[in-house]
Amino acid sequence: MLLPDGTSDVPAGKIAAVVTHLEMTERRALPPDPDGAWTLRTVPSPDLDWFRNLYRRVGEEWLWFSRLQMPDAELAAIIRSPMVDVHALMHEGRDEGLLELDFREAGQCELAFFGVTAELIGSGAGRWLMNRALELAWSRQVSRVWLHTCTLDHPSALAFYRRSGFRPFRRQIEIAEDPRLAGTAPRNAAKHVPLIE
Ligand SMILES: CC(C)(COP(=O)(O)OP(=O)(O)OC[C@H]1O[C@@H](n2cnc3c(N)ncnc32)[C@H](O)[C@@H]1OP(=O)(O)O)[C@@H](O)C(=O)NCCC(=O)NCCS
Repeated sequence: MLLPDGTSDVPAGKIAAVVTHLEMTERRALPPDPDGAWTLRTVPSPDLDWFRNLYRRVGEEWLWFSRLQMPDAELAAIIRSPMVDVHALMHEGRDEGLLELDFREAGQCELAFFGVTAELIGSGAGRWLMNRALELAWSRQVSRVWLHTCTLDHPSALAFYRRSGFRPFRRQIEIAEDPRLAGTAPRNAAKHVPLIE
């Protein structure tokens, strides 16, 4: 359904975001890696609790909710698919970043989830992880790498992706139940998005 021009009311208890899809259709030279003691750990057949925990630690502040509301079987089918690769960025022996590459659509790679925990934001770890993401994505037979970000995400995410070489091509409005009311995020998460009950 096409939304009419002008403002549209969002019911109390729901959140609304503008989603921007971005793509890259050719491999580009990567910028130099920032200095940092990070490593990438590939996680074959991820444990669901492990995955949800890292997803929460990276995404809770940005109201990532989709994977927390997904039944076990559905989540397992995605993250344990042979066409989906899950990686953790490790810092000081801990998993502090999440990278999920989805190759289920032939010839394409979606950076389905990308981010680092609060302590690593602004440290160069995001750029380092993007360099690893693009190496891994383009190491397969793909002609397109794409992702989406929304206005609930970290405010520098969109510019970060554009500096990474992604070109915006689609915009959507997403409305969803507020995960802080649905019980999948604490009520005090995401102070940048006021809770309206
Ligand atoms: C989106 C996100 C990855 C952006 O990362 P960031 O923390 O702003 O990025 P970084 O600190 O790695 O990099 C920012 C810039 O500073 C530079 N930088 C930062 N610290 C540096 C250092 N110590 N040495 C060299 N360069 C450094 C980086 O190279 C980069 O410059 P560039 O983009 O021109 O290459 C990060 O904010 C994040 O994970 N947020 C939470 C989850 C989220 O919102 N994800 C996006 C949803 S799709």
